[in-house]
Amino acid sequence: MDFQVHEHDVIVIGAGGAGLRAAIEASAAGVSVGLVCKSLLGKAHTVMAEGGIAAALANVDNRDNWKVHFADTMRGGQYVNNWRMAQLHAMEAPDRVRELEAWGAVFDRTPDGKILQRNFGGHKYPRLAHVGDRTGLELIRTLQDHGIHKGIQVYMERTVVRLLLDAGRVSGALAYDRERGRFTVFKAKAVILACGGIGKAYKITSNSWECTGDGHTLAYDAGAEWIDMEFVQFHPTGMIWPPSVRGILVTEGVRGEGGVLRNKEGKRFMFGDIPDSYKPQTAKDEEEGFNYVLGDKNANRPPELLTRDHVARCIVREAREGRGSPHGGVFLELQTFAEWYGKKKPGFKAEEHWKKKLPSMYHQFKELGGLDITKEPMEVGPTTHYMMGGVRVDSDTQMSRVPGLFACGECAAGINGANRLGGNSLSDLLVLGKLAGEHAAKFVKAHPAVNTPNDQIEDAAKWALAPFDRPPAENPYQVMHDLQDMMQDLVGIVRKEDEMVRALDGLEKLKARAARCHVAGHREYNPGWHTAIDLHNLLAVSEGITRAAILRKESRGAQFRDDYPTKNTREFGRVNTIQWKAADGSMQIKLEPIAPMPQELKDAIAAEGGGKLPEELV
Ligand code: FUM
Repeated sequence: MDFQVHEHDVIVIGAGGAGLRAAIEASAAGVSVGLVCKSLLGKAHTVMAEGGIAAALANVDNRDNWKVHFADTMRGGQYVNNWRMAQLHAMEAPDRVRELEAWGAVFDRTPDGKILQRNFGGHKYPRLAHVGDRTGLELIRTLQDHGIHKGIQVYMERTVVRLLLDAGRVSGALAYDRERGRFTVFKAKAVILACGGIGKAYKITSNSWECTGDGHTLAYDAGAEWIDMEFVQFHPTGMIWPPSVRGILVTEGVRGEGGVLRNKEGKRFMFGDIPDSYKPQTAKDEEEGFNYVLGDKNANRPPELLTRDHVARCIVREAREGRGSPHGGVFLELQTFAEWYGKKKPGFKAEEHWKKKLPSMYHQFKELGGLDITKEPMEVGPTTHYMMGGVRVDSDTQMSRVPGLFACGECAAGINGANRLGGNSLSDLLVLGKLAGEHAAKFVKAHPAVNTPNDQIEDAAKWALAPFDRPPAENPYQVMHDLQDMMQDLVGIVRKEDEMVRALDGLEKLKARAARCHVAGHREYNPGWHTAIDLHNLLAVSEGITRAAILRKESRGAQFRDDYPTKNTREFGRVNTIQWKAADGSMQIKLEPIAPMPQELKDAIAAEGGGKLPEELV
């Protein structure tokens, strides 16, 4: 077979925010870097973090600091987070945001010229630095420009099918290019995975076609472990109508700017469902929540800004109990806030205000749904948005248990625990992406070159081409759709043991069907072929999610078990689920205790909890 060969000290697989930030850091350390993207540079799920980047800059509320951000992140993650990652993240996020600004990101400003910050769910203070509702896009644009100027070599439209190993150490990867279907061998002394999430395992998702669990599965197949795969984030607000756009994200920034949720009876149902742990900070009435949105430091937050897991479940409940919107969601509207604010501030122009604050949302609904959000309510419902579980890495270096194999961004895990707070993904990818790049460069300098064994290359290429040689039996699209339907129905927002056991059985059947998938035609731009390859990853992560969700017999954060509807902290509040591939190819799973938290961090959490520690930390 014919292979192109490229050699770098470090290759970074995935060119969203995490991959770009890692590549910039490795390149700045003086090693040669190749950046491999599945689609075009700049097209990444990072842009779907629209509403802002979380960092305790304290520009809008000077009571904010890294300890409060840390405590919020741990509470949001229900205390099964990797506390060291959460600490590094909270401490370094402000510097990473200022650095981004120095590299050219143009944030919205406060009247006195500082970076403006808005409210988001679960963050105690206005903490999200933003660029209207296009923050992720601005982040990508800035990193892309900076990275190109650093001289990083970019390989676009390359899908990596397997990592190469030399005596257990990573030594490169085999990829094919989508345009011509040719194979490329990337030789490297270190590999950083930054491939994003797994959203395409579900039918309704904010993720686009690239998000098929590639980084998760490449690492797993190479011998790395997964941590906490049961925790899949369903963002409460995706578009639900028309059907062709179902799942597209409606930023939490809408609620951060005063948007309220109502059921078909016009009731603000979130007022009826405020957990005890949030009571001291939750709005008692509409006025107070709106004052909070406007920055009143003494007002209580509106209940729409509770954490995503909670809001998503409340929306599902409203719809299931017959109080939903016509297409099975609820209403999200800006008019109540605008009316209230209009009375306070004569001359307030609602339409102008919303178009400035939420320009993408305005266009998205206008173009895709024929709806003017400044005048009419939006119909919204949960959408699979983010994967909290993924490759287990060392908190201080981002290296997996496979020597030379690093991971960062959504495909790595630990920092978010059972639920991620909105805006933390952008700061996580900057802080931990930088760490991955720095330590991959150090690893390269400290370790000798490695070989890329020919038999592995040949074997991976043969595996990738196999669908062309099979008799016409199964269509890869059909298998993917059946998988997405099944995961949505049986391992979705509300889970039950018997349904998930059925899903495991279904996965075995789908695996057998995937092994019979046939593709016709040639290798040039053949999406059927690409789907047949993606199926391997989608099936692996789906099995990981299902097995971990079965093992965690409790409800915590994003995992809601109908058959175990409460937390069981004694058995599950101090453990992570860990998965790995055994020598016979089977998926193994265990519970592992979380390392004890240092007193200084416990004190930070207690300070936010009225002097009391949550039971998970006692
Ligand atoms: O709602 C949003 O703008 C999404 C942000 C995030 O996922 O961090």
